[in-house]
Amino acid sequence: MLNSDEKFCCCESAGKDDRLEKVKTVIEDNKNVRGGLIPVLHHIQELYGYLPEEALKVVSEGLDVPMTEIYGVASFYHFFSLEPKGEHVIRVCLGTACYVKGSQTIIDRLARELSVEVGKTTSDGKFTLEATRCLGACGLAPVMTVDDKVYGRVTLDDVRRILDEYSSGDMNSDNAVVAGEGV
Ligand code: FES
Repeated sequence: MLNSDEKFCCCESAGKDDRLEKVKTVIEDNKNVRGGLIPVLHHIQELYGYLPEEALKVVSEGLDVPMTEIYGVASFYHFFSLEPKGEHVIRVCLGTACYVKGSQTIIDRLARELSVEVGKTTSDGKFTLEATRCLGACGLAPVMTVDDKVYGRVTLDDVRRILDEYSSGDMNSDNAVVAGEGV
């Protein structure tokens, strides 16, 4: 007869999600480190792509930090996300240079084409649409990025074409692509 520690055979545990175990290890590593919460949250974000509640509860217990404080930190820093992101993350720069070149109309068009609000993910989980501050490429305004790919001098006509690249999976392999002409 199996005791409670033996009820799972090795083939069942082989495909087990071990991310929480990794989280516990990072918590141990940062337990007595001042400001250790931020690196732990970074690690969780890398592991999951966002900060799931079950992992944050483990952090709360492990670091002895209240959940309210963890949520406060997570929502303060823009690089943390409390919701799962889509397969592709689209960011449109609303910094001054991009804004005066019409980036608000670009983000509005994207929101309409994707039927999603800014800051949210499409119902099929394909795209997350976000607004961002200056990306440091003001000379290419208006600028948007899809994952790590940069599109500059984006026009309203480019929007559908760029989305189609990702919908069809036929992405241009260049890492820095300018949507407009003449660059
Ligand atoms: S304002 Fe958009 S890249 Fe600088």
